[in-house]
Amino acid sequence: MTAAALAGEPSAIYGAGDLGSAEFAVVAGIMQSDARIHLTEAKKTLVHSRLSRRLRAHGLASFRDYVRLVQADPAERAAMVVSLTTNHTHFFREEHHFDHLRSTAMPWLQDRARHQPVRIWSAGCSSGEEVYTIAMCLLGEDPSAAAWLRQGDVRLLATDLSPPVVEATRRGVYSASIVEPVPAPYRNAWMRRVGNDYQMADEARALVTARVLNLFGPWPMRRQYDVIFCRNVMIYFDDAAKAELEERFVQMLAPGGYLYIGHSERLIGPAAARMRSCGHTTYQKPAGSVA
Ligand SMILES: C[S@@+](CC[C@H](N)C(=O)[O-])C[C@H]1O[C@@H](n2cnc3c(N)ncnc32)[C@H](O)[C@@H]1O
Repeated sequence: MTAAALAGEPSAIYGAGDLGSAEFAVVAGIMQSDARIHLTEAKKTLVHSRLSRRLRAHGLASFRDYVRLVQADPAERAAMVVSLTTNHTHFFREEHHFDHLRSTAMPWLQDRARHQPVRIWSAGCSSGEEVYTIAMCLLGEDPSAAAWLRQGDVRLLATDLSPPVVEATRRGVYSASIVEPVPAPYRNAWMRRVGNDYQMADEARALVTARVLNLFGPWPMRRQYDVIFCRNVMIYFDDAAKAELEERFVQMLAPGGYLYIGHSERLIGPAAARMRSCGHTTYQKPAGSVA
């Protein structure tokens, strides 16, 4: 839908503050092209509520005017995309992945770290709870168990489309209620109290690099990754986008590496045939794989 097409529609059919189907179609088209996020009409109420804040911020009375603004202003277009992302996350979410990480992936990573760099990626990291959960699992409950990390070249990359959540990941500061799911030994070892909040310890933050990255843009990383977490992100994409992303993840994984996806997700594209299922929503790229 173009601005000209919208201009042909009588404003009288939209009450101020209503999100008409034409405007919704423009918003959905932008989400699809810029983030591959697939919005169906079922999401209209959610879109209405989130974009109402953007309308108010710009002093606009109608979605029609807001859509015109978005079409004319790339910065507002980007802000709209960010405002329509869902950033729900928490520490130790889907704990079975962290059990698998500690019991199965970690011995392999520790062995690798003796000879080569180890790279782990939280793709769609939101505000960082996922990547710091990974960091705490690697660091262990007792700081003396973290020697292998200090001696090796181990780095965790956390990326997200949304700049505010990437900034929150960099800060690594969380309220007491957010920190509640973190078992006490990890909290005592790797978090410190700052006023009413908790900050991730320097050693945990030093492992993590947080970057803004659209998963459907170029990936600047030069080497393959040993572990990729991409959980509760692909649910927002259509099947073609999921299959494309899965293929890129499989190529990005080192042979023997692990991919963790969200509890309601499964690999659906041709990439599934190249991965070995090794637990609920947990996959391994076979050690002999070439790509
Ligand atoms: C529901 S959160 C999941 C956070 C975490 N992985 C977890 O499972 O708790 C989904 C995240 O994916 C990000 N996201 C959505 N589309 C994206 C895209 N095209 N590129 C990068 N990140 C995207 C959102 O900004 C959001 O922070």
